[in-house]
Amino acid sequence: MGRDAAGLLVALLLALAALASTASAQVPSAADIARGKYVFGATGGCGCHTVAKHPANAGGRRYDGPFGTVYSANITPDRETGIGSWTDEQIITAIRLGRRPNGERLIPVHPYTTFNGMIADDLQALVAYLRTVPAVKQANQPKKISVPMFESVFLPAWLAAFAPKETPPTSAPTSGTARGEYLVRAVGHCGECHTPRTMTMATDNSRFLAGNPKGPEDSEVPNITPDKTTGLTWTEEEIADYLATGNKPDGDVAGGLMGEVIDGTLAGYKDLTKADRLAIARYLKTIPAVKNKIGK
Ligand code: HEC
Repeated sequence: MGRDAAGLLVALLLALAALASTASAQVPSAADIARGKYVFGATGGCGCHTVAKHPANAGGRRYDGPFGTVYSANITPDRETGIGSWTDEQIITAIRLGRRPNGERLIPVHPYTTFNGMIADDLQALVAYLRTVPAVKQANQPKKISVPMFESVFLPAWLAAFAPKETPPTSAPTSGTARGEYLVRAVGHCGECHTPRTMTMATDNSRFLAGNPKGPEDSEVPNITPDKTTGLTWTEEEIADYLATGNKPDGDVAGGLMGEVIDGTLAGYKDLTKADRLAIARYLKTIPAVKNKIGK
């Protein structure tokens, strides 16, 4: 072997060794990915990022608000049109702080003020899982903001003044009502649909989960506080069963957006363990009852 060839070989081996060491530090294990899929299911399958009958996570679902129209983003690992070229930290920052790598703010239709309550470990696992979903090349559709200076002035002011800030717990509670609270308030983001909104469109957390007559996509979202006449009076078992099957105690089944988050996309609430579904049910029994009649 000549000197050049030997030098090349050494360089190659060094490069390989460097690659192996970064790989061992960064490549998530099968267990991490499985845990990430569980977290993905606990969010309801990130279904806002999937158009019905289209590839999962490719984005393009339309959301109209008082500010204009936004389309959900492609969160598949495609490097050009998805999030494949972002670092883990950049993806996590977008999920929980609503900032793109270029510093641009996300419109809070993506519930970062709620996902802000997710612990780092769960987010890391979620990102590991997102990277395993098939990449789809599909460019994001530009948003149409109709309110002047919405993003430069209104949004930062709104975030500072009204947005409920969830402080991430240092570790995820593993059992009991604390576990239920974490799943409801942060990961499952139940309040994004079930909590009424104030005039500024911030969730009115003084009436947490008290229902919204005109929730996302104009759906009527029921009051799930334990109020005896206008809220949720099902047993814990019935609530846990509903989150797995969509079956209501009266024989009806979950429809619309609730059906979507239960079924999920690649996973959904239905994939939560019974212990987690019961923890959610138990926590729902502990929140203040709010009288708020939704629907007939
Ligand atoms: C994307 C919006 C959305 C999210 C997120 C959501 N829900 Fe719902 N939920 C709905 C809608 C809409 C309905 C009404 C479904 C129907 O009419 O069949 C509903 C119905 C329910 C019901 C049935 C209440 C009744 O009186 O019929 C329960 C219980 C419930 N949700 C619990 C939860 C819990 C717990 C979470 C979080 C883990 C959650 N929901 C997250 C939209 C949502």
